[in-house]
This record gives sequence, structure tokens and C-alpha cells, in this order.
Amino acid sequence: MSETDRLPTLVEGLHAAASRFGTPLTVTDVTGLAAAAGELVAAFPDPWLRQYSVKANDVPAIVGRLGGLGLGANVVSRGEWSVARRAGIPNGRITLEGIGKTEADLAAVAQAAARRDPILWTAIESADEAAALRRLAARAVRRGAPRLDVLLRFNPAVEPETLAGLAVGAQTSKFGLADDELAEAIEAGGGPHGPLRWRGIHVHVGSQLGAVDAWRDGVRRALAIVGLLGGSLPNFDTLDVGGGFPVFDVGAPAPRPERFARELRLLLKALPADRRPDRLAVEPGRFLVARAGFLVTAVLHVRQRNGPMVVLDAGMTELIRPALYGARHGVVALTSGGRPWSPQEPVVSPPGSSGKLQLTAVEGPVCESTDSFGRHLLPPLLRGDLVAIRDAGAYGASLGSTYNGRPRPPQVLLEPDGSLSLARRRGGVRTIA
Ligand SMILES: Cc1ncc(COP(=O)(O)O)c(C=O)c1O
Repeated sequence: MSETDRLPTLVEGLHAAASRFGTPLTVTDVTGLAAAAGELVAAFPDPWLRQYSVKANDVPAIVGRLGGLGLGANVVSRGEWSVARRAGIPNGRITLEGIGKTEADLAAVAQAAARRDPILWTAIESADEAAALRRLAARAVRRGAPRLDVLLRFNPAVEPETLAGLAVGAQTSKFGLADDELAEAIEAGGGPHGPLRWRGIHVHVGSQLGAVDAWRDGVRRALAIVGLLGGSLPNFDTLDVGGGFPVFDVGAPAPRPERFARELRLLLKALPADRRPDRLAVEPGRFLVARAGFLVTAVLHVRQRNGPMVVLDAGMTELIRPALYGARHGVVALTSGGRPWSPQEPVVSPPGSSGKLQLTAVEGPVCESTDSFGRHLLPPLLRGDLVAIRDAGAYGASLGSTYNGRPRPPQVLLEPDGSLSLARRRGGVRTIA
């Protein structure tokens, strides 16, 4: 069933969730989650390793649902690692990657190996990090632990077709190792036969990629390195192509995961069989969770400022993407003047064609002028009307804050049978009453 066909059920669920749990709150449509996971698995079927990037949404119930839909977990810290474990994902399906790994994070990797329960791999960001993990791994290996599997996080120096803030594969970005830094990192990590077992290359070009070109360039460069280093490193057999599959159409329709998969098949075909990696992995975040998430919020104020302006009870504390890097989210009314409103109306009415819809400035409640969702075509709204911010399932809850003394919103799952379950209760900021 398409999202449009499901709209009435979805809208009913959003209304029910708001009246039961209050606003603001985030509702995750489990059917939407499963549809996204199904599309990803179809594009990257077994034996591909599919690692959900937990940073996109770290609500354990959601990570757990994705675990049940064929996803492992890619984590950046012990905090996210613990979320993945609480969600029921075993260490053997967890990978660690991230620019900010601490000594304690790395020590936990070595300890897991010492307990004979290692994670799948750690992606190394720098020679410094390689040296630190080598020291910890050497101790574990001396006590009988297996060598620790590692990938090298490669900076492909491409120009990703995305917002500047999401272009992590650019040459000037702080992420990963440039091609002339790889040998130094291997050396710092103990060389080919030390306590670290070099398994391959990790590359993540950027997020919300508007086209496949930079991704293809980045992956082509990564494949060349796998082939090159595979000659001197005996187990160098893995390529992790990261995440970045888009969910919003920016100008042209966003390429689907299958489009990326097709590009990769062509790249692999062009290589001699002995230069192809044996293991392939993806680690998407937003593609799996963004569209399933709705931030349901109520109108607090209505003003006139060159047209209508509404201030909502949700903003950058619940969804910081617009304030952080200018991201745009769809906004739809669920009620107008206290009466139910079908969000289909703004979709089917071209701008200016309906007397009922007005370009309305939609603002958040936080004391920052960047706390704004921009202008949207909306019906007349009054204090108390309900509004849903769309595609709010990625980098919303996980990037949220309690700034201005605002409690974190509840996380609610809308199950396929229309029932609601509370995945996380409203947060614990102390209030007067
Ligand atoms: C290394 C890495 N992998 C995967 C992801 C997930 O990206 P996305 O949510 O765009 O799929 C990110 C996002 O920052 C990342 O840095």
C-alpha cells in the first residue's frame, strides 16, 4: 500500500497519539520502517552486511525493530553500542566507526575480544587511533584474545552532491584518512602481522546524496585501494560503502538505494575477480527511519508578520536539522480551527489555488531565531491546532536537547494494526508543577 493510501490510517494514529500522550511527541510508523528496510534489503541482499547507523535514531525499540528486519548496527560510541545491545543486537552484528572514539571506547572493543565476544570490526580514523587500539589489542592478544578486526576509514576527497554540512567525503572534511595517510596508520597499528587484523576499507561520502556521481567516484577510489592493499595484507577483503541514501527530493527525484547498488555492480564488474572484495557492507541511517517519523506538535501562538505566522510547541530541541544546516521538512496541518484537517489538501492544491491555504511561517518555541521550519502552505490555524512535521524520524530524537528546560518528547510506535505503544516516555527535566 502506498503512503498516500495509508494516509487516513496514519492521520488517525497521529491524532490518537497526540490525545493519549500530549504534544510534542514523535510517532514512528512501524509499517513505514518495514517498507524502508524491505527496499534496502532488496537493493543490498545477503550476503551484503547491512548495518543500521544508530546515530540516525537511537531509540532502542526502533533499533530493535530494524534488527528484526535484517539490520545489524553501526555505532560511534559505547553509548550507542549499549543501545544496540539493549535492542537485542549481538556483538557479532555490531561495527564501531566514528571520529570521536575515546580511549574507553577502544578499551571496550579490546575487552569484548578478550571475552571472546568481539564486535565485527572497528573502523580506524587516524594513525593516532590505530596506535591507541594497537596498545589495547596487544594486551588482550597476549591474554589469548583473537586479533581485532579493523577497517581503514578512507577520505575519498570527492565533492558530494549535498548540503555542505553533510559532505563528509570532501577532501577538506575532518573525517577519515587521505590515501597518503593509510600506510602510516597501518604501521602505527602494528603492521600486517600485529594485534590488529586489517580487513578492508570504510568509506562514507556524505548524507542525503542528491546524485550518485560523487558516491561512485568515492567507491571507485575505495575499491582501487582494497585491490592495492590486498596485495600485502592477507585478510584485506572488505569494503563498507557507508550510508547517505537520500530521503528528500531536492530538485530532481532522490536516487533510490537500488540505483546505488546498480552503480556498485558495474564498478565490481569492471574489476578482475581477484581484485574484488569478498565482503560488502552498507550502513544507512536516515533512509531507514526518516520517513517513518512524524513530529506531532500544537500551535502556541498565531501572529501576522507579512502573512500568518505560527509558533509551535516543538522546534529545534526536538528536530534541530533546519536550525543546524538549513534542512527543510514538510509541515502538514492535522486540525484547522479545532476541526480535523486532511493533510492531503496541501499536497493536492497548487500554491494559490485554494482560498483556504496560506503561506504560513512556521516557527519553533525556542529562544533562537534560527528555530524555524520555514514557510509552508497551511490552512488557518489557531492556538491548540495540531500540526505534523514530516520525515522527522532521522536525526531528531538522537540530536535532540533539553535546551530551554524542555523535556524530551515521548517516542511512540504506531503499529501496523493501528495500535500505539510507548517506546520512550517524556523526558525527565524537573518542572515546578
Ligand atoms: C560513517 C557514517 N556512516 C553512516 C552514516 C549514516 O548516514 P545517513 O543517515 O545519511 O545514511 C553517517 C552519517 O553521518 C556516517 O557518518
